[in-house]
Amino acid sequence: MPGGCARGPARLRLARLALVLLGWVSSSAPAPSAPWSPTAAPLPAHPASARPPPPGPCPAPCECSEAARTVKCVNRNLSEVPADLPAYVRTLFLTGNRLAVLPPGAFARRPPLAELTALNLSGSGLREVRAGAFAYLPGLRQLDLSRNPLAVLSPLAFSGPNASAAAPSTLAELILNHRVAPQVDEGDNRTFQNQSFEGTVASTLRAGRALRGLRRLELASNNLLYLPRGALAHLPGLRYLDLSNNSLVGLSYVSFRNLTHLESLHLEDNALKVLRNGTLEELQGLPRVRVFLDNNPWVCDCNIVDMVAWLKETEIVQGKASLTCAFPESMRNRALLQLSPADLDCDPILPQSLQTSYVFLGIVLALIGAIFLLVLYLNRKGIKKWMHNIRDACRDHMEGYHYRYEINADPRLTNLSSNSDV
Ligand SMILES: *[C@@H]1O[C@H](CO)[C@@H](O)[C@H](O)[C@H]1NC(C)=O
Ligand SMILES: *[C@@H]1O[C@H](CO)[C@@H](O)[C@H](O)[C@H]1NC(C)=O
Ligand SMILES: *[C@@H]1O[C@H](CO)[C@@H](O)[C@H](O)[C@H]1NC(C)=O
Ligand SMILES: *[C@@H]1O[C@H](CO)[C@@H](O)[C@H](O)[C@H]1NC(C)=O
Ligand SMILES: *[C@@H]1O[C@H](CO)[C@@H](O)[C@H](O)[C@H]1NC(C)=O
Ligand SMILES: *[C@@H]1O[C@H](CO)[C@@H](O)[C@H](O)[C@H]1NC(C)=O
Ligand SMILES: *[C@@H]1O[C@H](CO)[C@@H](O)[C@H](O)[C@H]1NC(C)=O
Ligand SMILES: *[C@@H]1O[C@H](CO)[C@@H](O)[C@H](O)[C@H]1NC(C)=O
Repeated sequence: MPGGCARGPARLRLARLALVLLGWVSSSAPAPSAPWSPTAAPLPAHPASARPPPPGPCPAPCECSEAARTVKCVNRNLSEVPADLPAYVRTLFLTGNRLAVLPPGAFARRPPLAELTALNLSGSGLREVRAGAFAYLPGLRQLDLSRNPLAVLSPLAFSGPNASAAAPSTLAELILNHRVAPQVDEGDNRTFQNQSFEGTVASTLRAGRALRGLRRLELASNNLLYLPRGALAHLPGLRYLDLSNNSLVGLSYVSFRNLTHLESLHLEDNALKVLRNGTLEELQGLPRVRVFLDNNPWVCDCNIVDMVAWLKETEIVQGKASLTCAFPESMRNRALLQLSPADLDCDPILPQSLQTSYVFLGIVLALIGAIFLLVLYLNRKGIKKWMHNIRDACRDHMEGYHYRYEINADPRLTNLSSNSDV
């Protein structure tokens, strides 16, 4: 189009001038080769015309950032999950609310929130998470349920889209720290206190092996007293396990054998007294693990000999030099690594507190005995009388027997006696 090219620059200059006059800032694209015509759209595209205009709704109590793909509905006392969440949401904060119950499909939307990857429900007053609560979130990878008064956690809470036990969850990180004590006095009482939190968590972790994709599990600060048998048996992909700041006394019931990918095991700030051979062997068998054992009240008696020997050898315990005895009194604050088997005995030399309590018990028992004897002595006349009464009663009874025996033995009187019995 040679003619068009010859005429182009003059008209283009004119058009540019008009645009500048109108306040448009042209991005000074190279001169187009096509002839400019007033009916064709101007080539430097207006930003708004490049993208479809609808910005996506934002629920009234929330703040949305489409650029960051983040929605925050924080500290709003919400009692349910907003219905009109924008489809672009990738990170959703629903913290500091009063959700109470998370029903099945609480996040199911049409079309589904396919982008939602991280969901934070920390401190939102959740008492109950029902089966399939996170169903229809095909991209969910991280879930924070910390600081909720959880009383009921359905074993199927995390199962796949139709909450069938067999469907695997997409979750990779489950954060469930710092459960707050549930309040029992609220209206809904039927579901509470049936099962310990330990049991609830364990059955959820086991249920249908739905969480087999889990890589990170945080259960810190939950006052856990024990880990039920098999609680960790179906989490083969776990990399990071945080059980710190609980009240675990021992690990005899729990098996770490299947956690072959485990890299960090946090057991700080518990109530561990000793680790037994079985546990030591299992931990040692994990190829990549690092174990954190600080701030546990280790009991340095003969039972800890195996653990001390293991500690001296192993490379997997972080900061093992700082582990110290808490009991018995005589061993307090001694470093476990410095102990030799000769230091560790179970000689029943009672600790001071126990000795005084035994002495006290002895005195109390002696006193009770003395009072008993005194009462017997003061009451000796009454007792004598009582003995006589008993003896008399016995004698009467025996005589009655004797009499009846005689009657029964006398054939002439048999009829009479059977009649009198009736
Ligand atoms: C939430 O409830 C608390 C206590 O009732 C109140 O102090 C606070 O202002 C409420 N927050 C909102 C955003 O309504
Ligand atoms: C979830 O929100 C709470 C409160 O804002 C925050 O402390 C916590 O770190 C968040 N969790 C994650 C996994 O980001
Ligand atoms: C639930 O999922 C299972 C296995 O994925 C499937 O066989 C079953 O038909 C699904 N049920 C429903 C109601 O979608
Ligand atoms: C539990 O709640 C039901 C009704 O919601 C009530 O009838 C029942 O007495 C309550 N039980 C206890 C132990 O509070
Ligand atoms: C509580 O226990 C009863 C009977 O043991 C059982 O029927 C009920 O389903 C249990 N409730 C929950 C929430 O586990
Ligand atoms: C440890 O747990 C207790 C209660 O379970 C809690 O009060 C405390 O803040 C926790 N400590 C840390 C460091 O999280
Ligand atoms: C380890 O996992 C296998 C297969 O999932 C399971 O059968 C076994 O019971 C688990 N072992 C332990 C000790 O939990
Ligand atoms: C624990 O294992 C060590 C080394 O394998 C062994 O010498 C020791 O007797 C075992 N202790 C117990 C109580 O079985």
